[in-house]
Amino acid sequence: MVPSATPYGTVPDGAIAVTDGRVVFVGPRGELPSEVASHPARVIAGDGGWVTPGLIDCHTHLVFGGNRAEEFEARLGGASYEEIAWAGGGILSTVAATRAASEDELRASAGARIATLRAHGVTTVEIKSGYGLELETEIQMLRVARAAGDDQDVTTVTTLLGAHALPPEAAGDRDVYLDLVCEEMIPAAVGVADAVDAFCEGIAFTPEECRRVLQTGAGHGLYGRLHADQLSDIGGAAVAAACGARSADHLEYTSEAGVRAMAQSGTVPVLLPGAFLYLNEERRPPVAAMREAGLDIAVATDLNPGSSPIASPLIALNLACLLFGLTPEESLAGMTRVAARVLDMEGSRGTLTEGAHADLALWDIEHPAELSYWMGANPCRTVIRGGRAG
Ligand code: NIG
Ligand code: FE
Repeated sequence: MVPSATPYGTVPDGAIAVTDGRVVFVGPRGELPSEVASHPARVIAGDGGWVTPGLIDCHTHLVFGGNRAEEFEARLGGASYEEIAWAGGGILSTVAATRAASEDELRASAGARIATLRAHGVTTVEIKSGYGLELETEIQMLRVARAAGDDQDVTTVTTLLGAHALPPEAAGDRDVYLDLVCEEMIPAAVGVADAVDAFCEGIAFTPEECRRVLQTGAGHGLYGRLHADQLSDIGGAAVAAACGARSADHLEYTSEAGVRAMAQSGTVPVLLPGAFLYLNEERRPPVAAMREAGLDIAVATDLNPGSSPIASPLIALNLACLLFGLTPEESLAGMTRVAARVLDMEGSRGTLTEGAHADLALWDIEHPAELSYWMGANPCRTVIRGGRAG
């Protein structure tokens, strides 16, 4: 998909040439440079399929121990996500299971989840920590995320989410825990994390606390992300914007002022329709206001054991259309070009243009809207990362 006035940037009967893992030509087959056309080292025939950039899942929590199927049952029985969290379940139950798991177990289970994403066209995935909530386990999660991505031939971007919840041993002392996040976790994450994130919510951290985390991260060269306005409007989007965060994620309760602040700062909205669905939310993110403000919108799975156990990027695309009213074209851009911007990879991934990494997905479809249309089908024929099919 080349950005252009053509819907989806479609190039009919197109060809892509790759050298040393980078795209060197994209355009109509008839315009292939003659030296490439006459001496190709290797040809992969599309046979009438569609090629898109490899999908970029820019928001996941896929390193974790255990699962939360019992919590799922309890929520179906009427308990709310917030009630479960206040009672010490929810995120904290995954923290206990993650601390109890060995590094090898975490690497194997995360690898299996990444393999599922890859089988559905994903070539780049962002993975957060946040189920350790102690120095050693948080850093271990980041290490595991990178290793599991290498194991599965998928590019990983890692994010420290120490400020995800208050661990039980903090015994309610928020300042002591935030000191640990800012003074120990963030410095220790340099080199193993690319970004820092926090959960700005009534059940988690206040805007002021999140600001401290993002500013400390920025001081250590980690760009910011923020879980914002998911369950209530406490001004999270504006905090993300004020801190120069690359994204604000969820945004169901974001106000128009929050949208304007994001537009001014260039903070990208990331929509996570899986969490909206699983938590039985009613309030939808302000998509019309985002469009009006000229914001491009990213879409991700939020793959995690609690609020979004969705391991299919295509289901996330589908839900972004059905639940939030995105067009299939917006949805696909949200998991390619716009997702790349969130991960500081704009122009080099998530796009099929000269110079970009040759990360591609080949689909057995007749129209790109099919990527949002099917639910549960997988039309992905092949994934190519760095020019190599695998
Ligand atoms: O993005 N909102 C906070 N964090 C995750 C959920 C984590 C969990 O429930 O385990 C989210 O929805
Ligand atoms: Fe999340």
